[in-house]
Amino acid sequence: MPPLPACMKAKPMSELFAFFARLDQLLTANQALWRLQPLQLAQIPWAESKLLKLLDNLSLNDCEQIDQSPQLQQQTFGGLWPELFVDEIAPPAMFQPQGLSPPFWLATDIGGRKWQQILLFAEATAQAKLPVLEWCAGKGHLGRVLAQQYQHKVSSVEWQQQLCQQGEIIAEKLQLTQRFICRDVLNNPIKDLFEQQQQVVALHACGDLHRSLLVQAAAAQSQQVDILPCCYHLQQAMDYQPMSAPAQQSLLKLTKTELKLAVQGQVTGGERVRRLRQTEMLWRRAYQLWRLEVTGDPQYQPLASVPKHWFSGAFRPFAEWAAAQHQLVLPFDDDGSCYLQQAEPLLLTQRRIELVQHLFRRPLELWLVLDRALYLAEQGYQVQLQQLCDTALTPRNLLISARKLPVAAPL
Ligand SMILES: C[S@@+](CC[C@H](N)C(=O)[O-])C[C@H]1O[C@@H](n2cnc3c(N)ncnc32)[C@H](O)[C@@H]1O
Repeated sequence: MPPLPACMKAKPMSELFAFFARLDQLLTANQALWRLQPLQLAQIPWAESKLLKLLDNLSLNDCEQIDQSPQLQQQTFGGLWPELFVDEIAPPAMFQPQGLSPPFWLATDIGGRKWQQILLFAEATAQAKLPVLEWCAGKGHLGRVLAQQYQHKVSSVEWQQQLCQQGEIIAEKLQLTQRFICRDVLNNPIKDLFEQQQQVVALHACGDLHRSLLVQAAAAQSQQVDILPCCYHLQQAMDYQPMSAPAQQSLLKLTKTELKLAVQGQVTGGERVRRLRQTEMLWRRAYQLWRLEVTGDPQYQPLASVPKHWFSGAFRPFAEWAAAQHQLVLPFDDDGSCYLQQAEPLLLTQRRIELVQHLFRRPLELWLVLDRALYLAEQGYQVQLQQLCDTALTPRNLLISARKLPVAAPL
């Protein structure tokens, strides 16, 4: 079994149980602060006078800035909730890369940010000799790096035939030992893909996709498992299905909406993106008011997501698109400006509530990642957790690395 690299000064396994227990306690004790739907609230739902006074002084811009900065969060809320900012619940240590220098021609058809994540993932999880199974591989960029830099034999699994074909063409051209398996891993048998002498890797595989990997890799006792999970809410089940015993025993019974909270953090995209995001929030709130006027139905109805460019145009076309989603037609002679006006104070209230709710986003994500880490520990793995990179590169930066422990010889 390859040892864990020395650079992984991440939380060792004995600490993971205690880490989970602390997060569980924090999240459970403070449910009233984060288990709510700010978009559906018209007033601050808390009565604590210190908190109300603090929130009352915050403008939309203050909310935006504090929300993006752990330092400002601590400055603003550290006095009220010091337990949120103690080292004991801080994210694990950061991976310290030496830096891979692959040839420039290896980075085909891939954005700079993604490429950096792939290189870091490859370096952080590199091992000496096991063949690699790359889960939900897309075009197999990660597998390509592993094959080229470490001469691994890589099998890349992906359900989109086009991506498999494109990946295969590149691998052939570069004469790499990478092959593609085109398969829907949720609706087809996958047992045959897993072996004991194998490293299984998954970069940003969503909910059920990485769950299926973990269960199957554990059943096959695959030697090494390295995953960077994301999108916990992308699952078939309505509610969260805990994987480890401690999470199953937790009082937290998470809904899909609450799972989304864990992945809502975005990479700050500059002033223009920030402005578009604010416009989007205001328009969604204003449309809700318009819909209430037209239908009399106060019940919140979700809307699909739309490309950001919509929000540099006028409000009326957006409102028409939203109304069509709800099979409604809006009065033709109204540009909706009165709803925009009414939405402004509501948006400010929403952002103030979200500011508090978002303090629990990272603890919740850590809770979910630890559930997976503890599951692997229960399955006989030595597990470590670390941050692969700064959250500015990707907010989904928590890497689980597991090595199968040798079974103890009978005495
Ligand atoms: C978020 S992307 C990650 C791709 C790649 N690992 C990366 O980080 O660039 C998730 C990938 O999973 C694939 N996928 C989604 N559902 C799948 C399924 N049921 N079976 C196999 N692959 C699936 C998607 O087509 C997509 O390429």
